[in-house]
Amino acid sequence: MLKVSEVQAGYGAINVLWGVSLDFPLGRLTAIIGPNGAGKTTLLRAIMGLIPVQRGEVVLDGFPLTGRNTWEMAALGIAMIPEGRMIFRDMTVEENLAMGAFPKPHRPALARNLERVYGLFPRLKERRRQAAGSLSGGEAQMLAMGRGLMSEPRVLLIDEPSLGLAPVMVQEIFAILRDLKEQGVTIVLVEQNTHMALSVADGVYLMRSGKVLMSERAQQVDVERLHDLYFAREAA
Ligand SMILES: Nc1ncnc2c1ncn2[C@@H]1O[C@H](COP(=O)(O)OP(=O)(O)OP(=O)(O)O)[C@@H](O)[C@H]1O
Ligand SMILES: [Mg+2]
Repeated sequence: MLKVSEVQAGYGAINVLWGVSLDFPLGRLTAIIGPNGAGKTTLLRAIMGLIPVQRGEVVLDGFPLTGRNTWEMAALGIAMIPEGRMIFRDMTVEENLAMGAFPKPHRPALARNLERVYGLFPRLKERRRQAAGSLSGGEAQMLAMGRGLMSEPRVLLIDEPSLGLAPVMVQEIFAILRDLKEQGVTIVLVEQNTHMALSVADGVYLMRSGKVLMSERAQQVDVERLHDLYFAREAA
C-alpha cells in the first residue's frame, strides 16, 4: 500500500495541500479527479520528493518516502509520468526510452525493457529512429508512458495522460493502463476525464482547493454528487 497521510505541501510560502490523506492499494488503479488548480499535480510532486512535504508522511509498504530524493524513487520502484509529457524533442524515440533506464541498476535490463515497451506500443517501435519532436500528441504520450515503464516500476504515477488527445487515442492509452493493471502495477491516475477515469479505476478520490472532498470505490460513485462537488455546487 502506498499511503499518503495528512500531507501538507506547496511552493515556498504558498501552501497548496492542506493535510490530504489518500490510500493507494497495491495492484489497484486509483484515480484522482478534480478541477484545475486542485493540487493534483502538486500531490504527485510531493510523493516523488520533487517538493518538500511540510507535514504528514508518505509511506510505501511501511517504508517512509518522505524526505527521500527524487532520484531514489526509481530504485524504490516508483515512476512518474509528468503532465505535459516532457520528452526530449531532439532525441530519437529510442534514445528517450533509454533515458528511462538511465539509473545504473536498470541498465542491464535495457534491451529486455525496450522489447517490453515496444510490445505494448508497436507504434513506438515503428518510429524508434524518428526524432521525438516529430511525434503526434498521442504518440508523444505513449513515449512518455514507455519511458516511465523502462525502470519496471511497481508503482506508476500518471498525470493527465488523456489531455489534448483525440478520443480514439484516449481509448488506446486507457487500454494500456488496463494492461498494466493486469500485470500487477499499482497505478495512481490523475485525470480530468471523469467518465474514462471511472471506467478503469478501482477507487476514486476527488480533490478541490488542496483538500480531499470524496473517497469512494469506483463502482459506487454517485456521478451526480461527484459533479456537484467537482463544480462546487455544494458547500464543501
Ligand atoms: N511551481 C509553482 N509555484 C507556485 N505555485 C504553484 C506552482 N505550481 C503550481 N502552483 C499552484 O498550486 C496550485 C495547485 O496546482 P496543481 O498544478 O497542483 O493543480 P492541478 O490540480 O494539477 O491542476 P490542473 O488540473 O490544472 O493540472 C495552483 O493554484 C497553482 O497555481
Ligand atoms: Mg495538474
